[in-house]
Amino acid sequence: MRYRYPWTMTDPQLVLTERVQRALGAAFGAEYSDADPLIRPSQFADYQANVAMSLSKRLRRAPREVAQEIADRLSADSAFPATVEVSGPGFLNITLDDSWIAGRAAESLADPRSGVGHTTPPQTVVIDYSAPNASKEMHVGHLRTTIVGDALARMLEHLGNRVIRQNHIGDWGTPFGMLIEHLLDIGEQAALARLEAGESSEYYKEARAKFDSDPEFKQRSRRRVATLQAEDPETMRLWHLFMDATIRYFDKVYAMLGVTLTDEDIAGESMYNPMLARTCDDLEAAGAAVVSEGALCVFPPGFTGSDDKPLPLMIRKSDGGYGYATTDMAAVRYRVNDLKADRILYVVGADQALHFRMIFAAARMVGWLPDTVSAEHVQIGMMLGTDGRRFRTRSGETVKLTDLLDEAVDRARAAIADRGYDEATQGEIAHAVGMGAVKYADLSVSHDTEYVFDFDRMLAFSGNTGPYMQYATARIRSIFRKGGIDPATATGTITLGNPAERALALQLLGFGAVVEQAAALAEPHRLCAYLFETASAFTTFYENCPVLKADVDEAVRASRLALCALTLRVLETGLDLLGVPVPERM
Ligand code: ARG
Repeated sequence: MRYRYPWTMTDPQLVLTERVQRALGAAFGAEYSDADPLIRPSQFADYQANVAMSLSKRLRRAPREVAQEIADRLSADSAFPATVEVSGPGFLNITLDDSWIAGRAAESLADPRSGVGHTTPPQTVVIDYSAPNASKEMHVGHLRTTIVGDALARMLEHLGNRVIRQNHIGDWGTPFGMLIEHLLDIGEQAALARLEAGESSEYYKEARAKFDSDPEFKQRSRRRVATLQAEDPETMRLWHLFMDATIRYFDKVYAMLGVTLTDEDIAGESMYNPMLARTCDDLEAAGAAVVSEGALCVFPPGFTGSDDKPLPLMIRKSDGGYGYATTDMAAVRYRVNDLKADRILYVVGADQALHFRMIFAAARMVGWLPDTVSAEHVQIGMMLGTDGRRFRTRSGETVKLTDLLDEAVDRARAAIADRGYDEATQGEIAHAVGMGAVKYADLSVSHDTEYVFDFDRMLAFSGNTGPYMQYATARIRSIFRKGGIDPATATGTITLGNPAERALALQLLGFGAVVEQAAALAEPHRLCAYLFETASAFTTFYENCPVLKADVDEAVRASRLALCALTLRVLETGLDLLGVPVPERM
């Protein structure tokens, strides 16, 4: 189930939809007034409505005749802000009135939110994202769940929803026995320094190697798991030391990226530990979990394995231990009952799709996830290297994230080296461009596609990239700077004399709807695509419509400056919602 957000009514497509539906009701009877008019952008006009073709069967009339009747109604409707023509077998070609476009653009300019509405009523949205594991490395996959989740959090918050970030870090389980013993072996200070530097992967491998080869270490580790489960104070002290150092590394990555996650948002697996026994008991008491081959399992309806046998969601292993699924069952219940979620987004790798489908089905089955609450797995596609395989360094190791981000900044610095900025400014721009490039690359493709991590492509200054979007924004700022004008004062009357002005104004009217749509569908790439189209429309406008040149008429200049100001605010707001920083100049 997906929640439907009310779309903004300055969006031309929605305004037209509403008017056409009225016409349908008036022409063919009330039962037709909620038919989808199928309004799409068109090559021959602003929009084309294909509804006559789809209704002709139902009405048993020729499509062209149906189209003509709709067109007549629309032409007689004084609130219809466009002209309409019937073409071909029964298309309706719709061309908006310039005065309407200019009027809506002026409204959007006067509105500090640039036409972005509020979700009504506001929802409580829990977003589970980032979620690296303390027992393994924080890898590029986590980078992508962090960036996509953060953009969703920003958009949903901007729409007036109550967003609760939940960083479901992997901070519990049997590996922590050996990780703590290894910490004692190499000394607390040395261990913490390495964890804080992001070396948890190597650290884990060393502990694992000892565990496999040294029976004494293995035995100690097992004992340590037991004292950890029992929350023995000294073991808990060591666990906290370990986790604090690891989280300091996560925080370093978050700070570099400028994501909005804080330590307050950490709600890791350990948080659910005290709830797991009851989770199992309650599932068993409700008749939803049964013992199968010694393990406690839920069999959610509709899941079968390749052997046609029902697929189990194992919530307690035969040795009594709990697992990933147990924690997620406890987490669903907590998020619904305690956090009062209306919507829960799980921004997690696509390879966990089956896990989440089973968790949601099991939780629905026992009534822990009521139909009024939407649970969505926002699947994150795998990140590939330029060789088309899972992203790794040349030596086959996974890449340390802080190194990767440093490299992005270094490459950005090299790309702008010839622009004559002083050291400090160059550093600031390089940071913004480097992080913007990495983040925008993650956001601009649909989140569930696999994609190639390619520095050259993401750092390109042309195309749908972060640096291009930053550059497009900085360029509009420089127009105002050159003119000695504060964009906030550019509130002149908008007139649309040139087709490029008209196209830009029309494009700007779609901002509110695209933000709402991207949030409702959890698809930030829609906002990227829109911003890229906006920057392109601006480029065409700027090539065709001089703004500051001496011979430009004063009223025309004021109108063009107003369009520049609205474009600037839409780009700035949009990039901010994506979490992409914009340097003052580039
Ligand atoms: N730590 C997990 C991983 O790295 C992701 C956790 C996602 N959230 C959840 N509720 N299971 O794969």
